[in-house]
Amino acid sequence: MRVPRHVAIVMDGNGRWAAKRKLPRVAGHRAGLKPVRLVIQECSRRGVEVLTLFAFSTENWRRPAQEVGLLMKLFLEVLGREVDELAQQNISVGFIGDRAALAPELQECISSVESRTAGNTGLKLVIAVAYGGRWDAVQAVQQLARRCVSGELGVDAIDEALFAQALSLGGLPDPDLFIRTGGERRVSNFLLWNLAYSELWFSDVYWPDFDVGALDQAFEAFAARERRFGVTSRQIVGDVC
Ligand code: IPE
Ligand code: IPE
Ligand code: MG
Repeated sequence: MRVPRHVAIVMDGNGRWAAKRKLPRVAGHRAGLKPVRLVIQECSRRGVEVLTLFAFSTENWRRPAQEVGLLMKLFLEVLGREVDELAQQNISVGFIGDRAALAPELQECISSVESRTAGNTGLKLVIAVAYGGRWDAVQAVQQLARRCVSGELGVDAIDEALFAQALSLGGLPDPDLFIRTGGERRVSNFLLWNLAYSELWFSDVYWPDFDVGALDQAFEAFAARERRFGVTSRQIVGDVC
């Protein structure tokens, strides 16, 4: 079966999972840690190269301060607790997003997780925190504009490859498979540029209930898709040029 090189997941539905059980929303976020561990293990085992998880969007800052605070506390707690195991499993962990918007303590924790796991050669886990596709495009433009102003780069030298390189995912391959749980059929400002040709898979399952069976369904659907990238079916089969 064809396995995606890069899987990107919008882990949605924690709040509704909790509401259904008359629990506070944060209980849903906590319950969402189990499938996070599971998809990391499964992607590692199946030979996926990159797994990008959307944990907190630029728009999520607009949630009630209490929920934002509890989520930030949870990130800090989980990273501290899981870093040894991730390191042992040869997983390298990277973060994308507006780090400057995070508390200094969390910024330090993120840097230390990245440097602890930097030499690992297995699955590359990318966690998107305080990330937005629009923010990413703007920071890429700012980087390129600075290089132009300094005279190092000519405006006409800017092409798709250079722009892609300046985005947060830099040299990584674009996601092959995009998964969103929780029933909504939208991208919600995730990797806007990088998702151009991703295969989209939407699941109605709330993220805390996402299990191996649900992941299998997404991988099976992906394997059955014909990825044409603009060309015709016959060109792919190699019949006709
Ligand atoms: C996704 O679950 C997790 C984050 C955005 C942090 P939600 O919290 O959006 O859950 P729902 O969509 O309200 O159910
Ligand atoms: C997207 O989920 C962001 C994350 C999963 C981190 P949201 O729940 O914030 O998206 P909307 O508001 O339904 O579009
Ligand atoms: Mg949601």
